[in-house]
This record gives sequence, C-alpha cells and structure tokens, in this order.
Amino acid sequence: MRRSWLLQLILTSFLLLSYVNNGIAGLTSTFIRSEWPSIDIPIDNEAFVVPKGHNAPQQVHITQGDYDGKAVIISWVTTDEPGISKVQYGTSENKYEFTAEGTVRNYTFYKYKSGYIHHCLVDGLEHDTKYYYKIGTGESSREFWFQTPPKINPDASYKFGIIGDLGQTYNSLSTLKHYMQSGGQTVLFVGDLSYADRYSYNDVGIRWDSWGRFAERSAAYQPWIWSAGNHEIEYMPYMGEVVPFKSYLQRYPTPHLASKSSSPLWYAIRRASAHIIVLSSYSPFVKYTPQYKWLAEELKKVDREKTPWLIVLMHVPIYNSNEAHFMEGESMRAVFESWFVHYKVDVIFAGHVHAYERSYRISNIHYNISNGDHYPIPDKFAPVYITVGDGGNQEGLAGRFQDPQPDYSAFREASYGHSTLEIKNRTHALYHWNRNDDGKKVATDSFILHNQYWGSSHRRRKLKKHYLSSVVEQIVTY
Ligand SMILES: *[C@@H]1O[C@H](CO)[C@@H](O)[C@H](O)[C@H]1NC(C)=O
Ligand SMILES: *[C@@H]1O[C@H](CO)[C@@H](O)[C@H](O)[C@H]1NC(C)=O
Ligand SMILES: *[C@@H]1O[C@H](CO)[C@@H](O)[C@H](O)[C@H]1NC(C)=O
Ligand SMILES: [Fe+2]
Repeated sequence: MRRSWLLQLILTSFLLLSYVNNGIAGLTSTFIRSEWPSIDIPIDNEAFVVPKGHNAPQQVHITQGDYDGKAVIISWVTTDEPGISKVQYGTSENKYEFTAEGTVRNYTFYKYKSGYIHHCLVDGLEHDTKYYYKIGTGESSREFWFQTPPKINPDASYKFGIIGDLGQTYNSLSTLKHYMQSGGQTVLFVGDLSYADRYSYNDVGIRWDSWGRFAERSAAYQPWIWSAGNHEIEYMPYMGEVVPFKSYLQRYPTPHLASKSSSPLWYAIRRASAHIIVLSSYSPFVKYTPQYKWLAEELKKVDREKTPWLIVLMHVPIYNSNEAHFMEGESMRAVFESWFVHYKVDVIFAGHVHAYERSYRISNIHYNISNGDHYPIPDKFAPVYITVGDGGNQEGLAGRFQDPQPDYSAFREASYGHSTLEIKNRTHALYHWNRNDDGKKVATDSFILHNQYWGSSHRRRKLKKHYLSSVVEQIVTY
C-alpha cells in the first residue's frame, strides 16, 4: 500500500513537471484495474428500491431552474395515478411556508407507458440557503433538501463534480457513492445517463425508471446539470420510435429558456463564479444552425468580471487519443475550436470514451483547406480538454489507447471514476480525477487550474516557483 502511494506521488510529480514545462511527453498510467463485471444491477436490487406507499413519488431529481441559481426545477414520477404536481418548501425542516405548482405528463415508448412525470419550477429563492421540500401526499409523501448556490460573485468558491457515461452497473454505483463522499455541490453531467437503449421494447422505459431511482440518492439533493449523449438519442425504428431524445426530454428538463436557447439540448447557466455552457454533440451545430447562432450570442454574454470561470460541457471529446471514438469530435472542433480559444474557455469536459484523459493547452486552428499548420500546437489561450466518460456503464472500459501517446495528451488511464473541480477564487481552482479503486476512492490526476482570464502570465510565473511543493502537499493531505 505504502509503495503504491509513493509510486503515485512520483507519477504525479512527473506529471506536474511535464505540465509546467509543457513539451515533455504525456503520461499513460500503468495502472491496470481488476475488472468488475460490467453488468447492470438486477432490476429488483435495493439500488433501485421503489419507495413505499400508494403513488409515492420516485425518481426525484433537481436541476438549476434559471440563469443565476435562484431557482430549481424539481422532477419526479408517480405510478398509480397522476396525483398532485405541487412542491411544498421552506427554509426549516417540517415547516413548509411556500408552495409551487408544477405540471404532469406521460408518454409511450413502443408499448411501454410511462408513469406520471412531474416537473415543478421553484423560483424566487434566496442564494446560499438550505431549502427543505416535500412532494406527494399523506402517508406516501417524501421530503428532501437542497442548498442554493452563493450569489454570482467572481470570488465565490464552489465545488463541482463531473460525471459521465454513468449507466446502472455495480461500477456506476461505486462511482456515484464515491462522488457523494467528495463534498461536490453540483454535478456537471457529460451525457449518457441510463443506457436504457441497450435494452429493447418495454425494457427501455423500465430501465429509464430504474436509473431515475438509482440517481435519486444524489440528484434529489443537488442539481445535476444535464447534457445529452448518444445513448439519449434512441432512434429505434424497429419498434417505431424515431423521434430523437424522446425519453430524455420527457424526463430531464433544463432551464434553456433562461439563456434564450430554443432547445433544452443546449443552454447555459451561471452558478457562483462559473459560467457553464452545455452543448449538444448530436444536434446540428454548423454555421447558420440554431445551436451555432445561440452559442455565438451566449459567448458574447460571458462576463469574466462576474463569472471568471468559463466551462463547456459536451458529450463527444474534441481531443481524444483512445482507439474508441477516435476523431468523432473533429466536426465540432472544426466549427467551434477557434471560439473556445478566442474566448479563453478554461476547461471543456466531455464523456463518450469510457476512460479518463486530460490534454495540455493546445489548439489546432491555423489550418485551412488551402494551407496552414495542421497539427495541434501548444496554445496558452486554449482550454484544457478533459474526458470523463468513465462513470462505469455496461459497455465496460475503453482500454486501448493510441501508441505512441500524441503530444496533446497529458494523462490517460482506463479506469472508472469521477472528477471534481473545486473553485477557490477568481484565479485558482483545484482539480482532481478520482479512480474507483475497487472500493476505495483514489485521487490519481490532480493539478491547480489557473483561470484563463485572471491568471496573468506575470502572476503565473510567480506561482510556478511554489507549484510543485504546494500541489504535492495538497495531494498528500487529500
Ligand atoms: C396518460 O395518462 C392518462 C390518464 O391516466 C391516460 O388516459 C393516457 O392514456 C396516458 N397517456 C399516455 C400517452 O400514456
Ligand atoms: C489559409 O491559409 C493560408 C496560409 O496560411 C493563408 O494565406 C490564407 O489567408 C488562409 N485563408 C483563410 C480563409 O483563412
Ligand atoms: C486564491 O486561492 C489560492 C488557492 O487557495 C490562494 O493561494 C490565492 O492566494 C487566492 N487568491 C486570492 C486573490 O484570494
Ligand atoms: Fe457516448
């Protein structure tokens, strides 16, 4: 055990050096995890427990409900009858001073009939306040709580979790449980939720329901900021289901109108000191499309004086050196990469590839089809690209990386896990990737992220001197 700690420290120090000096080759972790079977948890397992009582609310989840974090959308499902869509809430337990009225709907998918899906916007909340809420009626009502974020403020500290490609296996459960011990306050989810589309006929709907009950342990208590992956598309003509994102859109609303988006699949929110932009890899994004025009406007609205941290979420990674899904992000890179560099995006999180990978700050924007550089080159204005598609779904790990490791790749490892981004103030954020090490959570890749807008090169030079010692210290005490 001691030896592996030491090894890790050495690896991490090496990583830091290569990060600082930029130019030393990246690292492919030699860790080989003992593979747990990547099978879905059986439907009658307690991980999917159905709450007791007639028409008891289940699959409870919340997401941010406005642009600035003073609202939440609360969603749940009832199965016996529509029931009421009312949320009672207040700032002290068992005392619900306020009421909000929601809506109820249902849908079919092949012959599967969904339960009654409730969505309720609770707005006008105070910042930085704990709220208790109650849904359902009588004996089968249920109570939960959440904490609103601090007011938009450039130095507000806040801890985000990043999870992708979660699914509903024993590995998924391990990832979720580890995340829940991390102190993360909001999940940035990078797509591929339930993997229900791996099933056929009525089981698709049934596995969306089980996933809703599975994720509730976290998603009922803190917002999950959703982005859509390929497993949400569910284009399944063999059973007459051809409307993309049908189940996902019925079940997981987003506050897209607050950022003037015309679709719940792409939108933006501001939370604490972060401006978070969610893109859809599987919706049109080339020039003149709604997503393209919307992003052009949204980027202009970003105010780094108020929200220093600019974070983008998407499903398909733009820089990936895994054999799996290699170059699938090229089309979006060709359209948006120059904007990401121009607007000095801090970090871009993606999923899709079932492994972990982090890039150096690089860009490849000088190429055009008649001429120009056509390799990624170091670029201090470029974002860091991080792939966290390692939530642990039934498709297993993507274990084959391109060899040799491309220059743009800083660190990669095929293990399950999640990340956290702990924003400290306008200049500093601590980033960790945590491997699910067969029951233990191990911080494997970690570094200090300097803000792209506020971290001047002068400031950065001064920081470099203290870089190594302080980060190693912080890893040891994690
Ligand atoms: C929705 O629920 C109503 C009321 O129970 C039912 O009559 C209707 O068939 C359901 N619709 C769908 C699409 O399942
Ligand atoms: C394409 O690249 C060449 C060579 O760098 C440059 O001269 C030309 O202006 C570029 N064209 C456009 C449209 O960017
Ligand atoms: C920001 O946070 C970092 C890390 O905690 C700290 O070293 C630095 O002094 C802080 N800067 C400001 C301006 O508060
Ligand atoms: Fe995917």
